[in-house]
Amino acid sequence: MADWSDFIQQIKRNNDIVDVIGSYLELRRSGANFMARCPFHGEKTPSFNVNRSLQIYKCFGCGESGDVIKFVEKYESCSFVEACEILAKRAGIPMPETSVNRDDKEYRERKAKRDVYLAICKDTAKFYWRVYRSEKGQLARRYMQGRGFDDVTVNKFGIGYSPDGFSLPKYLASVGYSMADCVKCGVLQKGRQGETDALSGRLIVPIFNMQGQVIAFGGRGMDEYTIAHGKYKNTSETPLFIKKDNLFAVNIAKEQKQQSALPHLVVVEGYMDVIAMYQAGFKGAVASMGTSLTEQQAKWLSRLSDTVYICYDGDAAGQKATVRGLDILDRAGLEVRVMTVPEKLDPDEYIKKYGAEAFDKLIDDAMPLPDYKLKLLENAFPINSSDPAQRNNALPKYVKGAITMLKSLDDVRQARYITAVSLTTGYSEDYFRRKLTEENETELPNITGDELTQEDKAKYFVAACVLHGEDYASVEDKPLCNSAFLSSLYDYLLDCKSKGAKPSVDMLYTVCPNASEEQYSYIIDVDLSKAKREVNKRYFEECKRLVTVEKFKLRRDELLKKLKKDPSDGDLLNELAELSKKITDIR
Ligand code: GTP
Ligand code: MN
Repeated sequence: MADWSDFIQQIKRNNDIVDVIGSYLELRRSGANFMARCPFHGEKTPSFNVNRSLQIYKCFGCGESGDVIKFVEKYESCSFVEACEILAKRAGIPMPETSVNRDDKEYRERKAKRDVYLAICKDTAKFYWRVYRSEKGQLARRYMQGRGFDDVTVNKFGIGYSPDGFSLPKYLASVGYSMADCVKCGVLQKGRQGETDALSGRLIVPIFNMQGQVIAFGGRGMDEYTIAHGKYKNTSETPLFIKKDNLFAVNIAKEQKQQSALPHLVVVEGYMDVIAMYQAGFKGAVASMGTSLTEQQAKWLSRLSDTVYICYDGDAAGQKATVRGLDILDRAGLEVRVMTVPEKLDPDEYIKKYGAEAFDKLIDDAMPLPDYKLKLLENAFPINSSDPAQRNNALPKYVKGAITMLKSLDDVRQARYITAVSLTTGYSEDYFRRKLTEENETELPNITGDELTQEDKAKYFVAACVLHGEDYASVEDKPLCNSAFLSSLYDYLLDCKSKGAKPSVDMLYTVCPNASEEQYSYIIDVDLSKAKREVNKRYFEECKRLVTVEKFKLRRDELLKKLKKDPSDGDLLNELAELSKKITDIR
C-alpha cells in the first residue's frame, strides 16, 4: 500500500495534467488555465477547464472533475490500475512490484500466454478479413449486400469469412503458432482429423475488447446446412473471452465516446442489430450476446455512459432473468430505460422497415425502469380489468409487487413513484410510506452532497482548509468522520502530517475515489483566496467550534453510558464535569 501511494505521487509528478490532456484534446490557454471542449458531454463552446497549478480538471458544463489519473480512466474507459499503467508507461516509470507479479513465474507465464492468444486472434481476424475480400469471399459479400450493409460498415466491424475447416489451421501453422495454443484460444477445434477452423464456412464477426484487441469471434451460418448446427456459433469460453462478461462493440462505442460524448448507450441482443444501427447513424450500440446482463457488463457500460437504453426482441425484456439484469445496471448507478420495438421486430428489421427516424422515436419513447416494472406488474395482475372479480384479486398482488419495486428506489424517485402508485391503486401514500419504513428501518441513511447538514458542511470546510494548506487549519482539529469520504480524506491528511509532507489537492481523487461531484466540489471549490482570508479564518473558527462540540457531546454520551453501569466512578464524574464546562464555554 505504501508502495502504491508513493508510486501514484511519482506518476503524477511526472505526468503534468496539461501535457497529458493536451495529448488527447486541443487545449487553449485562458489566463492561468487551459480550456477545451469537454470530452465527457457534447458541447460547442469550451467549458472544460484544466488547472495546471492544482493539477486538476473541471467541466463547468457537466460538473465532471478529477485529476490526471481520473481523466485517463474516463477517457480511455479503463480501470484505475490500467490508467496508472498508461501514465507510468508514458513517463517511463516501472509499475510497482506487487505480491502478484514479483518473481511470480506463474503470473509471468500467464501474461506471456495471453499475449500469444491475442496474437493468434489478431492473425485469425486478418485471415478472415482477407478471405472475405478475395475470390472465395463472394458468397459472404453477397450475403452482407443482400442484408443491406455497405462496405464502410463491413470494414468498420472487420467482417470476415471462413472458407472451410482446414485453411485457417494451415495458415496459423505456417505463421508458427502451436496448434494447442490455437485450440486454447478457441479459433481451432480438435477433431478426429486434427485441428479444424471452429467457425468453418461462416460469416465472421470479430469481437473486440475495450482496448481494441480481438478476443473472440461470432460466426453466422449462411446456408441451411450450416444453420442446422446453430444460426450463430461463438468462440467457446477461453482465457481471453468469457461470453457473459463481454459486450460486442464496446470498442466502437468507446471510439464514438472519444469523438463526441455518448449521451446514452443502447444495449441490443444481436451482432447484426449493432451493425445495422451503426449504419443508420446510432453509433453507441452494444450487444449482450444472448445472456442476461452481469455486473462486469454493467461496469463496461458505466465506463462508457451513464444512461443505458435496453432494446430486446419481443418479450425478452419482460423475462425474469432480463429484469434481474436491468436491476444490476440500476444498482451500478446507470439510468436505465426500456425500449419497446413493435411487431416483435429486432432493431435491424425495424430500421430496415421503418427507417432511422422511426427508431429514434422508439428511443424517445423508452420507459424509465420503474415505469417499465409497473407495466410488467400490470400485465401480470390486471388491476384495470373490466371484470371486477379479476380486478379485486389482482390488486393486493399488484400492491405487493409495487412495494418491492419502490424499495429499490432512492428517496427522490421513491417519493415520486409513491404518488404514482397511490393514484393507480387507490391505496394512500401513507400506506406505502408506512410499509417502506417498516421494512427499511435497519438500513443506514445515504449521505450525499445536497443533503448535507450544517455540521457536515462545517466538517467539509475544516477538512478543505487543511487540504489546501491554510496556515490556521490543523489536521488535529479532525472532526468525527461520519462518512467513508471524510475518513479516507483524513487518513490521507494524517499520513501527510506524519511524513511531514504538504497535502496535495489533486490527491483527493485518488484517496476518495467514487465520491459524488458535490463532495469533490465542497472540498475543492472553496474560495480560499487571499482577499477572503479574514472572512475564511473566522468561518473556520466557527466550523471548528461546531465540530468540537460534536466531539465533546459524543464523549459525554459515552461517559453517561459508563456511569449508568458504575454511578460512583470518581474519574468518570470528574471528566464529565470538565466536559460539561468545556461545552458551555465553547458555546
Ligand atoms: P440475425 O438473424 O443474423 O439478424 O441475428 P441477430 O443479430 O438478430 O441475432 P438474434 O437476435 O437472432 O440473436 C441474438 C444473439 O444471440 C446473436 O447475436 C448471438 O450472439 C446469439 N445467438 C443467436 N443464435 C444463436 C445460436 O444459434 N447459437 C449461439 N451460440 N448463439 C446464438
Ligand atoms: Mn436480426
